[in-house]
Amino acid sequence: MTMKTRVFSGVQPTGNLHIGNYLGALTQFVDLQNEGECVYCIVDMHAITLPKEPDELRDHVLDVAALYIAVGIDPKKSIVFVQSDVPGHAELAWILTCQSYTGELSRMTQFKDKSRGNESAPAGLFMYPVLMAADILLYDADVVPVGRDQKQHIELTRDLAIRVNNRLGEDTFVVPEGRFLKEGARIMALDDPTAKMSKSAESEMSRISLLDDEAKIKKAIMRSTTDSDGEIRYDIENKPGVSNLLSIYSAFSGRSIPEIERAYEGQGYGSLKKDLVEVAVDQIRPIQARYAEIRHSEALTRVLADGAERAGVIAEATMRRVKDKFGLGGGASVPSGAGR
Ligand code: TYM
Repeated sequence: MTMKTRVFSGVQPTGNLHIGNYLGALTQFVDLQNEGECVYCIVDMHAITLPKEPDELRDHVLDVAALYIAVGIDPKKSIVFVQSDVPGHAELAWILTCQSYTGELSRMTQFKDKSRGNESAPAGLFMYPVLMAADILLYDADVVPVGRDQKQHIELTRDLAIRVNNRLGEDTFVVPEGRFLKEGARIMALDDPTAKMSKSAESEMSRISLLDDEAKIKKAIMRSTTDSDGEIRYDIENKPGVSNLLSIYSAFSGRSIPEIERAYEGQGYGSLKKDLVEVAVDQIRPIQARYAEIRHSEALTRVLADGAERAGVIAEATMRRVKDKFGLGGGASVPSGAGR
């Protein structure tokens, strides 16, 4: 196992990434590059838990890859790759499936929300967290930077790793830790601050995508839901809308919430919103410029090919170790092509 901290995380290629993904996860991905050996995945096999048009999926994979680089992930420092390019993910997912309890999987809130007791919900939705655990454990990750919504999945990953280690030895899996930011870990929908900002919400006004133009960003922020008392104060319970705007402001600007509250004392929501538009656009504009340069470049395909190769080396070593622990495999030492 490596001495340097291994970092692993992933993003689903489902539509444009929004500022929740950016402020909760991607900013961490970038920062951690200077601290550890980072592996960043585009989890296309998670994306097919619900039906996806193949061409659209391929496009979205490249969109996310280009956005990874546009936000500042440096493919020379970090491994950037597509999940389905490395077979170990599916292989380890099956091994972990056999270690999971149906009870714990049915308690996953994301599964409950998406399946709503529907008997024809795809089984892939049910197994989703196990595939995620496989992603993480396959790379012996110490740290997993994510938004707060993934906390339960990280807990399951830890439980599975500890369960297997208790049976087969501490050297089977590295037990990972989730990493969550103070501000940014849970960005809420702009038009309904009691719901998480998500890629799948119907209303475009609920989110700001990293590829939105300035007019759209402005409209979504200026129209965002607030309350009627007019006081700029962080109070999640009673003032979820303003609190969400303060979190976004703080995460984008690096200024603390109390500092922002002081700066806007006695002013109305209008001036906070107006300035937030500026703060957001200033950060998003350079990302879009870099995205436009790279999205259709050959360099992008090279990054993914190189990433798949580097990720594959780590994954193969883990699979050899794990299969051996479970007593799996018999012919691995037979040269390929033998017996034909
Ligand atoms: P996904 O694609 O939904 O989201 C990508 C990342 O963005 C974070 N995030 C948010 N953070 C703050 N506020 C929000 N409103 C918000 N919405 C999303 C997510 O927490 C995530 O960090 N299951 C994962 C993908 C995955 C994964 C993994 C992550 C698959 N395998 C292994 C880490 C490690 C997901 O659906 O993320």
